[in-house]
Order: sequence, then structure tokens, then C-alpha cells
Amino acid sequence: MRIILESASKAASGSNTQPWEFVVVRDAKMKARLKEPMLRTWLEKLAGGSGMSQRMRDVYDEATEMLRNTETVPVIIYCCVDLDRVGKSEEVRYASIYPAVQNLMLAAHALGLATCLTVHGSTPTRGEPEVKKLLGIPEHVKITCLVYLGYPAARLGPPKRKPIEKFTHYDHW
Ligand SMILES: Cc1cc2nc3c(=O)[nH]c(=O)nc-3n(C[C@H](O)[C@H](O)[C@H](O)COP(=O)(O)O)c2cc1C
Repeated sequence: MRIILESASKAASGSNTQPWEFVVVRDAKMKARLKEPMLRTWLEKLAGGSGMSQRMRDVYDEATEMLRNTETVPVIIYCCVDLDRVGKSEEVRYASIYPAVQNLMLAAHALGLATCLTVHGSTPTRGEPEVKKLLGIPEHVKITCLVYLGYPAARLGPPKRKPIEKFTHYDHW
């Protein structure tokens, strides 16, 4: 965890404000309590998604499975931004935390661990108020995302992504 958090802390942030705060949850009982509001709000969201494609349904089934198993994941990390330590612009706030989150995930990967980023617990409709209360996170600190961290069940190989030609524009769109 130290190496992973050190790597996160080397990220860029607006005016080097370093507004990140990480809540690293290892206690299974606490993870089970945190799961309740996150799972409830996620299932509410799914219940409203009647026109969903089969592909999305499959992706969401996997996401639900992970969420249901929250307490068995070795570590979950709430990645937060301290709103008092960063400018008021929403873009700068989020742009000052996600590079640190990406560093954290890459460091974990380099150590042979596996991560999954989610937005569970990061908005009012995803159980953020209850999660913040359970963890004692102060009012001026916002949860931006949650990283599940554990040991990979399988080696997945290189990520499946579009070739760079599909989204790169040199000199002009
Ligand atoms: C904003 C965001 C939210 C995500 N939420 C979830 C989630 O709730 N559950 C999940 O299993 N994966 C989640 N992911 C992971 C993506 O599904 C994953 O990155 C994508 O399917 C590509 O898979 P790969 O990164 O393993 O190649 C999320 C990723 C991002 C960036």
C-alpha cells in the first residue's frame, strides 16, 4: 500500500495543490456496511434501465457481481478531493485527482495486483452521503471514485482498445 500511495502522490495537480485524500478500507465488516448503500442505489439504477442492450446488461451483471462481493475484496480505496485545497472550477477539481488515481492503479498493476475503478459511493445517487457518514469523511471532502484492489484471478493480457488512428487528429480535426 505504501508504494501504491507514494506513486499516487507523485501525480500532477492544479498549481500543485495535491488535493487528494485516500480512505483505504481493509476491515471486512466496514466493507460490508459500505456495500449496503452502494448496492441499493446501484440496483435502483438498474431497475430504471429497461431499454438496455444485451451487451450493457452483461457488463452491468459483472459490475453487480463485483459490488455484491465488496467485503471479499482485500482493499477498497475511496479516492477523495479536498474542496478547500483546490480551486472552485469543477474541471480543475476532478482533473487534479484522476491523474493520482491512474498512478495508483498503474503502480498496483506493476506490483502484480489488480484494480477496478468504479464511481460507486461518489455521488448522492450512488450512496455518497451514507458512505461519507460511515467513514467519517468531512463535509468539505468529496468522494470522486472508488478503486477495488486485489489479486488478479486471471491474467487478462493487454487491454482491448481502439487503435490510436481512430481518435488522433494531427494539426486539425
Ligand atoms: C468512470 C468509470 C466507472 C467504472 N465503473 C465500473 C463499475 O461500476 N464496475 C466495474 O466492474 N467496472 C467499472 N469500470 C471499469 C470499466 O468497466 C473498464 O475500465 C472497461 O470496461 C475496460 O476494461 P479494462 O480496463 O479491464 O480493459 C469503470 C471505469 C470508469 C472509468
